[in-house]
Amino acid sequence: MALTESILVWLHLIAATFWVGGMLFLSLVAVPLIKKSSNPATAQREFVSQARRFRKLVWIALFFLALTGTILLPNVVNVSEPFVKWPSSVLIKLTLVLLLIVVSLAHDRFIGPKVRTLKHKPTSELVVGEKLLLRISPIIGRLTLLLGLAILFVAVVMVRT
Ligand code: HEM
Repeated sequence: MALTESILVWLHLIAATFWVGGMLFLSLVAVPLIKKSSNPATAQREFVSQARRFRKLVWIALFFLALTGTILLPNVVNVSEPFVKWPSSVLIKLTLVLLLIVVSLAHDRFIGPKVRTLKHKPTSELVVGEKLLLRISPIIGRLTLLLGLAILFVAVVMVRT
């Protein structure tokens, strides 16, 4: 039993490190390199294909996090008790995970594809809502990274309270 549990925590941590580490890599290594590149257009295309591949794997990682996390829940809560009695750190972590899934879905399914089409439109033809979307899209990307870092912190607090 202890070995199975250790393997589950190990898988949970591999998925978490892949996901948060990958986001840190993209924002701190890959994005700055596009700006420094001698051929920014090619670098931008390569970045987009790297980000797309990463995005697909992130959904697999999130699936594993939710699966292994749900199996491990009895380690941190009494699952027979109602939600409201669960420790606040657990509830905060689950709320942040839910928020992350909603923000990631909005980013991948709606904002990303819409922004790609808007970038081909002349600025003079953009309506107010479209200009706003172009402005907030990088913020949404950063928000997922911030949520990931916040979940890591709450996870650490959760197992120690
Ligand atoms: C539905 C989603 C999730 C559930 C139900 C969940 C649940 C859990 C549980 C029960 C543990 C304790 C494991 C144990 O020691 O027995 C844990 C640990 C942990 N979780 Fe999650 N988790 C979820 C998503 C995530 C996500 C998205 C991340 C990463 C950003 C994450 C990062 C961690 C980390 C780093 C630990 C280890 C903390 C430590 O040992 O100090 N979890 N999680």
